[in-house]
Amino acid sequence: MEFAELEKLIKTRRSIRKWKTDAVPEELLVKAIELAGWSPNSGGKQPYHCYVITNPVKIAAIGEAVQEVTDYLASLCKSVDDQAVVERWQANSGFFRNAPALVAVSASIYQSIADKLQADNMDQPRVCEINRCRQIAGSRLQTVGAFVDHLLLAFHALGLAAVWMAGPTQAKTAVEKIINIGDNEDFVALIPVGYADEQPVAPVRKPVEQVVTFLR
Ligand SMILES: Cc1cc2nc3c(=O)[nH]c(=O)nc-3n(C[C@H](O)[C@H](O)[C@H](O)COP(=O)(O)O)c2cc1C
Repeated sequence: MEFAELEKLIKTRRSIRKWKTDAVPEELLVKAIELAGWSPNSGGKQPYHCYVITNPVKIAAIGEAVQEVTDYLASLCKSVDDQAVVERWQANSGFFRNAPALVAVSASIYQSIADKLQADNMDQPRVCEINRCRQIAGSRLQTVGAFVDHLLLAFHALGLAAVWMAGPTQAKTAVEKIINIGDNEDFVALIPVGYADEQPVAPVRKPVEQVVTFLR
């Protein structure tokens, strides 16, 4: 593959928040999920699962659960300066309800050998410190991040449009009930997907010099 082809795929993918009403063929969703499974994954465990929701009643229920938490948090706003931003957030909180399909991604719990050694030795101060550092950069969430990124690119390559959403995790308990999540799994991201009904301008990126340091 030419670099230019990959560059085009990556740079033309956009977060889409408005979709046509057309349903997405299940084969396309499965194709993208299968391809995303080729992303790097910690310990070779692929510690994630996709719950694909096309049932309008369930989509609406997830929308209501997320909106309820948004409205609650918004009601706590005391700053006049923040009011306009809060109102905009409140109004936009449930845009994903209009997508023909939602992919709720869960991260499953697994124990690597390093995790096991830590868990068995948490009475040692040095182990506590090692554990604190490892928690900050937890492997299972990094793995889900790589998976979701690949999934978005796969959707884009298939002509589908999606957006990665962490916001809906604010209603984690309610969403997990609606999707009937398995034991030892956490709902960590929601990806509404469909056919784009908007063409947003690409948000600017930092110049590469700002995100790289060479230690020569
Ligand atoms: C971890 C993560 C969480 C995100 N959560 C949300 C979200 O809750 N709601 C939303 O509208 N967009 C969300 N986004 C999408 C970003 O806003 C978007 O990627 C960013 O503005 C850049 O735009 P682009 O994807 O079109 O390049 C999230 C992106 C990432 C990587």
